Amino acid sequence: MTDSAFAHDRIALATETDAFERDIIEGLSRRQKTIPSRYFYDDAGSELFEKITELSEYYPTRVETSILLRHAAEITDGIADDGILVELGSGSSSKTEILLDAAPCLAAYVAIDVSPGALAEAALRIRTRYPTLEVRPVHSDFMQSIPVPHDLARHRKLGFFPGSTIGNFEHDQAVKFLNDLRHAFSNGDRLIIGTDMIKDEDVLLRAYDDSAGVTAAFNLNLLARINQTYGRTFDLDTFRHRAVFNRDRARIEMHLVSTEAQVIRFRGHIFRFDRGETIHTESSHKYTLESFRELARRAGWHPRSTWTDDKALFSVHELVIG
Ligand code: AVJ
Repeated sequence: MTDSAFAHDRIALATETDAFERDIIEGLSRRQKTIPSRYFYDDAGSELFEKITELSEYYPTRVETSILLRHAAEITDGIADDGILVELGSGSSSKTEILLDAAPCLAAYVAIDVSPGALAEAALRIRTRYPTLEVRPVHSDFMQSIPVPHDLARHRKLGFFPGSTIGNFEHDQAVKFLNDLRHAFSNGDRLIIGTDMIKDEDVLLRAYDDSAGVTAAFNLNLLARINQTYGRTFDLDTFRHRAVFNRDRARIEMHLVSTEAQVIRFRGHIFRFDRGETIHTESSHKYTLESFRELARRAGWHPRSTWTDDKALFSVHELVIG
């Protein structure tokens, strides 16, 4: 890498650190304290999330993978020979291989993710396994903007947004995101998107509060990341993980509960916590088949196929433009 590339990385890091700081101050100033869930995914957080996906209680990854495997031919049917696959929040790119195996003629794979470590590791593995495929890792927060490389813009696109990551958005934000994505794509392009389904509270709570405590560690890692980035701020022993199902809003919420009354000092600001007060760290919205199709329509996409498992735990939707 050249010096200027290093300088560019340093500037990117500084900008990221500033945005994180602003978001922490803004979030902790609210009546319901909050920190945006996208900050979970530093390299340690991405690794913890991979561990979550291996838990027996965390059904989404396993069930979505089985849906993709069962319908891979149908999902990739009609991809043009020089079409490209654009994955949003690619992480370890493990589900990607299902589509790549079913569509060996793709011109390129664009992997967009916020975690540089996960991105680099995934790109290396995909390049090794698919030596003729052009692999283009893009380090970006796709929640904010969708950077499809300019030289690939003219290709027919198959968007891939698995894992129910869309569930992190409030409904209006999800509509805006899908609408922006539609504008980054063209008429005839498609999106394959995974959404988690509304179900029994017990099953949901077990998935977000597992017995091995991996989800708790993932949630608490957010505070560890703040301590690492800005110096010791939070005493991790005074916060506990909590998952609740908010049925009215059809979403799982993750919180960090302060086990005592305390004062947190951060960059010249003071934040008071009552005992039992929480920081809301994540919402994971759940849908029915029809509620998600309706949301997609509001964003200007046309829902085409939907696939689900026999217990209707998870769903995969095909949306098309035009
Ligand atoms: C990556 C956002 C889909 O909501 O299930 C897993 C993140 N949080 N366990 C989800 C998550 C706690 C996950 N998404």
